[in-house]
Amino acid sequence: SILGHLRWLHPVPDTEDTQRADRHCTPGSSNFTSVLVSTSKNSNFLTNTTVKPICIVTVTDASHAQAAVVCGRRNGVRLRVRSGGHDYEGLSYRSARAEVFAVVDLANLRAITVSTDEECGPTAWVDSGATVGQLYYTVAKTNPELGFPAGECPTLGVGGHFSGGGIGMMMRRYGLAVDHVVDAKLVNADGELLDRATMGEDLFWAIRGGGGENFGIVLSWKVGLVKVPPTVTMFRIPRTLEQGAVDIVTKWQDVGATLLPRDMNMMVILQGRQAVFQALYLGRCDEILPTIASRLPELNATKSDCKEMTWLESMAFIGFAGNTNTSALLDRNIGFHAFFKVKSDYVRHAIDKEVWHKIFSWLSMNGSGFLMLEPHGGFIGTIPTGATPYPHRSGVLYIIQYITSWPTGNEGSTARNWVRNLYNFMGQYVTKSPREAYINFRDLDIGENTVVSDVSTFDSGKVWGRKYFGGNFRRLATVKGMVDPTDYFRNEQSIPPLLQGY
Ligand code: FDA
Repeated sequence: SILGHLRWLHPVPDTEDTQRADRHCTPGSSNFTSVLVSTSKNSNFLTNTTVKPICIVTVTDASHAQAAVVCGRRNGVRLRVRSGGHDYEGLSYRSARAEVFAVVDLANLRAITVSTDEECGPTAWVDSGATVGQLYYTVAKTNPELGFPAGECPTLGVGGHFSGGGIGMMMRRYGLAVDHVVDAKLVNADGELLDRATMGEDLFWAIRGGGGENFGIVLSWKVGLVKVPPTVTMFRIPRTLEQGAVDIVTKWQDVGATLLPRDMNMMVILQGRQAVFQALYLGRCDEILPTIASRLPELNATKSDCKEMTWLESMAFIGFAGNTNTSALLDRNIGFHAFFKVKSDYVRHAIDKEVWHKIFSWLSMNGSGFLMLEPHGGFIGTIPTGATPYPHRSGVLYIIQYITSWPTGNEGSTARNWVRNLYNFMGQYVTKSPREAYINFRDLDIGENTVVSDVSTFDSGKVWGRKYFGGNFRRLATVKGMVDPTDYFRNEQSIPPLLQGY
């Protein structure tokens, strides 16, 4: 996972869990800085010049969130909502522009209740401040044959992660996290507490992938749980350029999305002169090896590459770079604190071998830069584009993340230039019109809202919004126009309200 990779590159000590006993803290409070940085993952946004909140409200009950909205509106203070603090641009706890705002921090709202006796299958209610690692652990400890399809980094906050979709190692079998959300509790811009029945289907559609911070504060989510086998197989196979990495990656592009079974998810991490093929198969090694041997013989995968384990152990294996200590999934402070910049693309037509040689040349220029390629296809591609706001479904072969990091605050410009130049180079080989991007891999380079008469404009939002949401952007803006027409919940890339119908 990115977590494993970045931790390996910058092993900075973890921040202690902060004293969250104070429900409100202001810059004058002794623990303000420790609470502010507690779950902030990108050190870029913890500098002296960062625009910080005037107050952090750590809620433990729905009524606190409702009061924050009512009080914020009355006093002209906007809110930024933070669950796990992983936003790539730090928008859950800082503003890119001069702005007076408070943070509503949900880190202490993290109950998880699993029900295995429901008529329509097993479900769980999970609060937004829980991490996905806590969710995996709680579900599997209740019943080891149950799991949940979400992201690879165990400390991801459920609130922000589900708000943007949630891709992960089981998406080819089960789709995104939001494909399994069946109910939610939300505080809207009027401070009302709503569930699916009272919010209505348009708003319920929008919060399942339309991006965090747009429509209110989602306090908790009811999700359907999925079946996992008693034994799964993981492998991590590194191949250098000399061992044929370019040929294998070139072929993997179609094989990973269209020729491997849905139970198999094989992602690729490219760094330096090497490609690492990391896979989760929902079954035993002997069942999948013959398929890999016939579809991707160039990889030369053997039984000794396979590691069989429980599904829960595999979630730890992926998150902690091979360590299968499952209780670590409960540790919300295990994260890294690095300086990094990420951009994303989707690929619908396989990229030629010659271009992969060039991409490896780019990687040779930046030792800490890497690419993560995650296959789509399978179940995720069968869901209609408009079923949820996440539009990158049928026909997508894989998503690319371009990631670069650096060790100290003043060393970032070379790394940032590298990732931006590589992204420009890749423009000719990836999706176009729009050039697609993933909202959960937030990137302010692709556009920011313009605010006119205190409302974000639809035209400025369209520039980045079509990339994240394709044809679903207009519907999202219409829902925003219905539920928050004065644009109270907003940030630099929030859905602008559209007051005419879609
Ligand atoms: P954070 O608290 O920063 O919130 C992110 C956004 O959502 C902000 O705009 C925030 O205001 C809003 N928000 C948060 N909680 C909300 C709530 N309860 N109601 C309304 N709005 C809310 N993604 C992925 O799909 N698969 C993956 O495997 C990974 N892996 C990964 C690894 C690492 C190391 C990082 C840093 C990030 C990822 N991501 C990812 C991206 C991740 O899904 C994305 O950053 C999520 O928004 C993180 O949610 P958090 O709650 O942690 O962030």
